[in-house]
Amino acid sequence: MLGLITILTLSLTGGAAVADTGTAWQDTRRPVKDRVERLLARMSLDEKIGQMTQAERGSVTADDITRYRLGSVLSGGGSVPTPNTPEAWADMYDGFQRAALATPLRIPIIYGVDAVHGHNNVVGATIFPHNIGLGATRDPELARRIGAATAEEVAGTGLDWDFAPCLCVARNDRWGRTYESYGEVPELPSQMSSIIDGIQGHRLGGSPTSILATAKHYVGDGGTAGGVDQGDTRLSEAELRRVHLLPFRAAIKRGVGSVMISFSSWNGVKLHGHKYLITDVLKRELRFSGFVISDWNGIDQIDGQPGFTPEEVRTAVNAGIDMFMVPQEWRAFIDTLKAEVRAGRVPMSRIDDANRRILTKKIELGLFERPFTDRRYTRTVGSPQHRALARQAVAKSQVLLKNKGGVLPLDRRDNKIFVAGKNADDIGNQSGGWTITWQGSSGPITPGTTILEGIRQTAGRSSTVTYSKDGTGIDGSYKAAIAVVGETPYAEFEGDRPGAMGLDAEDLATIERLRASGVPVIVVLVSGRPLDIAAELPKWDALLAAWLPGTEGRGVADVLFGVTKPTGKLPSTWMKSASQQPINRGDGQKPLFPFGYGLTYRK
Ligand code: GLC
Repeated sequence: MLGLITILTLSLTGGAAVADTGTAWQDTRRPVKDRVERLLARMSLDEKIGQMTQAERGSVTADDITRYRLGSVLSGGGSVPTPNTPEAWADMYDGFQRAALATPLRIPIIYGVDAVHGHNNVVGATIFPHNIGLGATRDPELARRIGAATAEEVAGTGLDWDFAPCLCVARNDRWGRTYESYGEVPELPSQMSSIIDGIQGHRLGGSPTSILATAKHYVGDGGTAGGVDQGDTRLSEAELRRVHLLPFRAAIKRGVGSVMISFSSWNGVKLHGHKYLITDVLKRELRFSGFVISDWNGIDQIDGQPGFTPEEVRTAVNAGIDMFMVPQEWRAFIDTLKAEVRAGRVPMSRIDDANRRILTKKIELGLFERPFTDRRYTRTVGSPQHRALARQAVAKSQVLLKNKGGVLPLDRRDNKIFVAGKNADDIGNQSGGWTITWQGSSGPITPGTTILEGIRQTAGRSSTVTYSKDGTGIDGSYKAAIAVVGETPYAEFEGDRPGAMGLDAEDLATIERLRASGVPVIVVLVSGRPLDIAAELPKWDALLAAWLPGTEGRGVADVLFGVTKPTGKLPSTWMKSASQQPINRGDGQKPLFPFGYGLTYRK
């Protein structure tokens, strides 16, 4: 009997049993498949179920990770270490990782975060335009560069998994996640899925800043009736495939390593329990070889009752979900799944398939060889280079919708400009949801350049720029008035707008105050979607859709002053009235501005 435990494992080559002293799976010269099989052969049921379990950082200790063999940790939106600094994130990550490596098989955790427009939970990170703005650029290479910059900042804090991109096709602008969509037609999210190449690199694990991307939310999240978040997408299978499946085909072609399941339903059946769509379509037909993760407590929704039951757990596992985002109830999940396996209601083959998928991505990422933060990249968080890229993206995302008499671009010299509006000098408002906190918030929440600061920086020394949030103080001596108005931050269902979709009373009053002076009024709309402004538009001299630009507000000024010509094109049809929703290209309705519309400057 050898001193070492001798494990007989079927080699992948000829099926011949080979002696495995238990470290062969750590040999980086071996094919990934071989390493996975050798590791899997050594794992207990507890270790396999642990790999399928993802806990939220605030509900788990390092000891828990070691004791329960947890395979993954996440930060929910706004779940951050104290202090919220890149170094503290890296220390937190490394602490959890050390705990994972204290297990007998030393399987590292993979740590997921929503870096959906930059590493947006981290104070000081570069916040890029939200996806609706990037869709307006029609620039896949720009999206790829943004993905690479985001991955650098995420990797610089240790984390190795980005719950992005959202490849939703937002069909009803009432939906609170419209701004997470690159556009209303499937070709746009498909085209902009190039961000995956940036996040993962040309090969997963091919560089220290290659992290795992996530195509989400599978499938049909943007097509629910009434635009209700987590609602019901009522479509034929042909329509579901034509509109909502297409971007996932593109993502899989790019080698996306994970897919997140949607909270929504398809014709009344929750996606989290949908074996046909997850196993038959995504895994078999589309040949997705990465792993599937649930959304936040997504399995709780299968039966429509709070919490999860053994039936919901086995339904979701047997449907083909591989890893479970069970932020707080992860212990109950582990116990329940173990009982379902022991009772024979979840086959071991399903547990092994999930583990093969998860372990394959961990090995490809190089987590076994490079488990800790590469601190060389910590300094990239919020770097001047990344901010310059973000400013360029902001400028390219601007869509000029009206420019009466060529009031734009503004002269930089000898000008007298009045700026007003609640979104003119507010980093939080111009960044939108998923910024520092889950919902985002108004105010100076993170370092950056507000749109007002950008205007001041761009106007020449011989010009005057006056700011008054509500427009008080304007008079006829000014040559132009800029009203920066629109929406305040929101995320997910908090942003659903089942009722009116126009400007609020504060914004309308501000614009009216400016108009009363007789000065030409330029409206800059900071919003996560098209708004119902047709009745107001005739009273405005110009309209610029700025979307949710993020920290680099100077990109908006670049367009206002003509430093950069506006080239943005609408990623979403602009309604004439909220009563038209949903309104999309080719549906026969007459919009205020059609999909693809956008003006530029003549000179
Ligand atoms: C949220 C979102 C999903 C996100 C996840 C983790 O509910 O639906 O997009 O990745 O939870 O924060």
